[in-house]
Amino acid sequence: MAKIFSGVQPTSIPHLGNYLGAMQNFATLQKGNDCIYCIVDEHAVTLPQDPATMQNNIRNLAALYLAMGIDPKQSILFIQSEVPCHAQLGWIMQCISYMGELERMTQFKDKSKGKNAVPAGLLTYPPLMAADILLYQTELVPVGADQKQHLELTRNLAERFNHKYAPVFTLPEPYIPPVGARIMSLAEPTKKMSKSDKNKKGTIFTLDPENQIVKKIRSAITDDEATIRYDREHKPGISNLLDIFSLCAGRSIDELVGAYQGKGYGEFKTDVAEAVVTMLKPIQERYRNLIESSELDEVLDEGAEKAYTIARSTLNQVYKAMGMGRVSRL
Ligand code: TYM
Repeated sequence: MAKIFSGVQPTSIPHLGNYLGAMQNFATLQKGNDCIYCIVDEHAVTLPQDPATMQNNIRNLAALYLAMGIDPKQSILFIQSEVPCHAQLGWIMQCISYMGELERMTQFKDKSKGKNAVPAGLLTYPPLMAADILLYQTELVPVGADQKQHLELTRNLAERFNHKYAPVFTLPEPYIPPVGARIMSLAEPTKKMSKSDKNKKGTIFTLDPENQIVKKIRSAITDDEATIRYDREHKPGISNLLDIFSLCAGRSIDELVGAYQGKGYGEFKTDVAEAVVTMLKPIQERYRNLIESSELDEVLDEGAEKAYTIARSTLNQVYKAMGMGRVSRL
């Protein structure tokens, strides 16, 4: 039995990359493990968000977590800002981080590029993420490949703290799936699929209607070789579609490559679209039932309470180890 933690930002509806790279595994990992899943709204505000849209996104994400199979009887689901220990341990993690290591983070470099006023929160995003993970003595963190560097930093910060003060933290491992860890944009298959992509044709959102999914996959950029084979370097578009097809249909890439020998890209794309629609349909139906129900608030209230109990106990150990507050009262 492993302790598992992961989070998703409520910055839009999750896209197919979020689902295939991370969220699909959240549900699978519930069996036999202690899982905690979070709506990381404090991370979301590292860049400006419209308040009303953010409220909608939080509710939609909560409903989608449940629709994607998170069972609140087995797992804890909560909103980050409703458990103040995250911001509190986040501060401590900032204090033990070095500017140089934060400035070297790829995500920071990408997101701050070209901005003349860079919010400090973008730089301190990874120490807050470390706090999320370390508060729950997490052993395994299911994420996409883009979060690997943040996980390495989390381990470094945990080790640094344990060495300097007291052995409070468990060192977490990333859980990155062999297929799907980096789903690429359909419009530009050398770039990862992203919520903030200006080209909306590149991203499939998990609540997109069927006709839009079909349209986006039909217009996916491929190549002019007209052979279906897996080659990420020379055929990024077709390889990305093979990854998506494989995960949505539960068929191996080798099997798919064999099945589409001598067939055209048109037929292939039609079948990829069908596999995506078939996989998303039941999630979308469950989402529609959940979004109007009062169940969501009950789950989130209970989740925040349970998360707080665990998080506070770790934070007390941290404060004690550092001599903060009145140690005798902790
Ligand atoms: P977010 O919301 O940006 O992404 C959520 C998850 O989706 C994965 N992901 C992808 N996987 C495959 N292909 C893609 N194109 C793709 N795009 C995104 C991300 O790797 C992530 O697993 N920093 C986190 C949020 C976070 C967190 C945490 C995660 C905050 N605290 C603690 C784990 C543990 C993030 O990127 O969210």
